[in-house]
Amino acid sequence: MEIIKCQNVAKDYYHNKLTTTVLRDINIDVRRGEFVAVTGPSGSGKTTLLYVMSGLESCTAGSVQLFGRDLAGFGARELADIRKRRIGFVFQFYNLMPNLTVYENIMLAKVIAGNQEGDIDAALALVGMEKRKRHFPTQLSGGEQQRVAVARAIINNPDIVFADEPTGNLDHASGVAVMELFKRLNTEYRKTIVLVTHSEEVLRYCDRHVRLLDGRIIGDEKLGI
Ligand SMILES: Nc1ncnc2c1ncn2[C@@H]1O[C@H](COP(=O)(O)OP(=O)(O)OP(=O)(O)O)[C@@H](O)[C@H]1O
Ligand SMILES: [Mg+2]
Repeated sequence: MEIIKCQNVAKDYYHNKLTTTVLRDINIDVRRGEFVAVTGPSGSGKTTLLYVMSGLESCTAGSVQLFGRDLAGFGARELADIRKRRIGFVFQFYNLMPNLTVYENIMLAKVIAGNQEGDIDAALALVGMEKRKRHFPTQLSGGEQQRVAVARAIINNPDIVFADEPTGNLDHASGVAVMELFKRLNTEYRKTIVLVTHSEEVLRYCDRHVRLLDGRIIGDEKLGI
């Protein structure tokens, strides 16, 4: 089943009477359980594509369906609920709250989603950070912060995890640890993953490779089979 479906999607930004077309004629279906890598040069529209796919941004033309329903048909509240409960996000610069501990950062995501069930200790154990739950983000390395960010992204048990260059700011070993975590989320926990990367090495963790250039898809191929 398709969990994300983009049909003839375009995205323009308007600024000072100037129109910039950032995505054009995007057609892509992501099936449940896929692990998709998105690559392309800086400015090719990768981040914008993630935002449009996840309903963080609306598209200017075409349609995006999530979980079998057109995003245009969702009310603001419903869309917010979907983003909180069914989608997790991981960013290049972790985006943890600096004045909250590791535990509290994850608690915050849970509270915002109104989630009574998510087990914070289990999520921290999954990413190997259970011993650091009382630390603040500044007391952790980049790789450790990113693993906390992954725990935060999955605390509400989302169906899809979007990640925007999650290893872009990490040394090699930390990047490998984070990618192995994503691989487990995909194979063991059956999360659908859409991940933007600049790294060729990251591709070997993924099973599909979508390439963007100037806002268009110029390649879409299966990997490793
Ligand atoms: N809010 C905005 N207003 C106007 N233009 C924007 C906006 N957001 C992005 N853009 C433009 O859209 C284009 C694509 O941006 P995007 O952030 O999607 O690229 P990217 O592929 O993620 O690049 P990078 O690898 O550098 O992160 C860029 O030219 C950018 O300047
Ligand atoms: Mg980007």
